[in-house]
Amino acid sequence: MKVIIDGITIDVEPGTSILNAARMIGGEIVPPAMCYYSKLEGSGGKCRTCLVKVSKGSEKDPRPMPKLVASCRTTVMDGMEVQNITSPEVKEARKGVVEMLLINHPLDCPVCDQAGECHLQDLSYEHGSEATRYEFERRTFDRIDIGDKIQLHMTRCILCYRCVYVADQLTEKREHGILGRGDASEISTYIEKAIDNDFSGNVIDVCPVGALTDKTFRFKQRVWFSKPVDAHRDCPTCTGKVALWYKGEDVIRVTGRKDVYGEVEDFICNTCRFEKKNTSDWVIEGPRQISNRSVISSNHYEQLAPPPVVRKNLALQAANKEEFERATKH
Ligand code: SF4
Ligand code: FES
Repeated sequence: MKVIIDGITIDVEPGTSILNAARMIGGEIVPPAMCYYSKLEGSGGKCRTCLVKVSKGSEKDPRPMPKLVASCRTTVMDGMEVQNITSPEVKEARKGVVEMLLINHPLDCPVCDQAGECHLQDLSYEHGSEATRYEFERRTFDRIDIGDKIQLHMTRCILCYRCVYVADQLTEKREHGILGRGDASEISTYIEKAIDNDFSGNVIDVCPVGALTDKTFRFKQRVWFSKPVDAHRDCPTCTGKVALWYKGEDVIRVTGRKDVYGEVEDFICNTCRFEKKNTSDWVIEGPRQISNRSVISSNHYEQLAPPPVVRKNLALQAANKEEFERATKH
């Protein structure tokens, strides 16, 4: 099926969502996603940050869709035309969604461990307003320890359900879910029961904000001062492919390796995440490549390969320069 997103045409398989079609193109036309997670079945459709405008429904029925649609939950039709960054309406709506998410989310980035890798923080920089119009008291919750390694700070939760899907799909015994309705909804571990199965730590990696954090890492270091390194070990439970985060010589945190959309490549087990904090436990592969748009890339001087289009332009510039020098030599 042919679909055009912000003027760029791509062919995709039937059944592909608009969001995934945009991801196949890549770059800044990809809508942000706070709740969709490609590795978690059924995720998406909760946060509305991925709204786009369908200006042409399909080749057969070219009428535009009457309302903005969630791109993670809408599949493409042949000949569909979609607008994301080229639509002022979408930008305005996204601003509204961010304002709505920030109604209850505290602006405590200076003391939040997720700062620097928080998707809501990025979104509020791009689309947020500088002041809130909300006059009511924000809802607050006490912090809850989920076992001795994970802490839930429900005050920061945006109810994206990703952690619930992790508990549902990755662990044998689900002890974690959302209770209540509307603004009384909250993540619960059913009377604060510890999640003690092998893959429970992945709730930390999938949480887009700082609601679920690694207690073994809390307040150890701002993430942009640490040095991320790819490493692996022969693990009987998971793939053993991780990112190690160093403070000097010490491994202060172990996480899954996240891609450009903040999704882990592989879910890792709790032994790798919490028990293997010595360099000698791992085979080091090399420094982790961090996009230079991320705050985590500050203090890292690795030379990233430029994207193909930039490489092409650089080659063109070099060829032009050579030709110019040849022509002006005599
Ligand atoms: S705790 Fe995090 S992952 Fe779970 S629903 Fe809230 S924001 Fe989403
Ligand atoms: S990512 Fe589509 S609704 Fe949340």
